[in-house]
Amino acid sequence: MTEQTAEAKATAAASGSSATLRFLADKQSAGTTSKERVNTLATEVITAVHDVIRRHKVSYEEYNALKGWLIQVGQDGEWPLFLDVWIEHVVEEVASERLQGSKGTIEGPYYVPDSPVLEATATLPMRDGEPGTPLLFQGQVTGVDGKVLPGAVLGIWHADDDGYYSQFAPAIPEWNLRGTVIADDDGRFAISTIQPAPYQIPTDGSCGTLIAAAGWHAWRPAHLHLKVSAPGCRPVTSQLYFTGDEHIEDDVATAVKPELILAPVPAADGDGKQVTYNFVLDPAE
Ligand code: DHB
Ligand code: FE
Repeated sequence: MTEQTAEAKATAAASGSSATLRFLADKQSAGTTSKERVNTLATEVITAVHDVIRRHKVSYEEYNALKGWLIQVGQDGEWPLFLDVWIEHVVEEVASERLQGSKGTIEGPYYVPDSPVLEATATLPMRDGEPGTPLLFQGQVTGVDGKVLPGAVLGIWHADDDGYYSQFAPAIPEWNLRGTVIADDDGRFAISTIQPAPYQIPTDGSCGTLIAAAGWHAWRPAHLHLKVSAPGCRPVTSQLYFTGDEHIEDDVATAVKPELILAPVPAADGDGKQVTYNFVLDPAE
């Protein structure tokens, strides 16, 4: 761990409220869902909760504990964290049910659009002496028809060697370990970065309270986040993991798929590791 001063400490409240503000700025869309659909979904969710209460004879004490906790999640700004850890993976499963291309997985709360644009062979923005094992991440983007996709765009973002994301933890340069890489005319890319560390979701806020109260753990395996797009194709949002990671089998966010596990080998230039991963994009609907 790098040294952190008391005031520069990453807290759940700080990363939670950043994630909430980000969501409100980028993702919130006007209510386009029909009354009929809202009626169906809201009724079924509420009925499912009733069933749990009856089945487990939930007491007033437990009901009030839940009420207090739900209020606290909002006050901590941790709804993005809670939803992206425990709910999003099933939304992604449903959304990708019939696709043929590369598997995707959850986006999580820490994507920021419009990161610095980089050429096909690039080094992600990083600090001098950025801690961590150097990693060369390279590959090619094609369509499901096998045709190369010139100029495919890869948004990449990941945590540092301490498990922190720029813009969601203090004292990290704005675009550290984030970039928008434009693939070459053959859809190829070669991105130099460092291997991220396993990430613990914030434990000092209400998501941490739930984890402790239930006897769970807060770990996600180390991962690279990617959003890959090309004209005429359906963009894929993915995460790539590393073989042998101690949390690969029990990711708190249930976002690991076997197709998403990388096996880096020693780098050809002797500095760190390298790995090749090719993306296959489905056609746009
Ligand atoms: C969370 C963090 C991540 O880095 C991620 O990929 C998914 C979820 C979270 O803290 O909620
Ligand atoms: Fe992440």
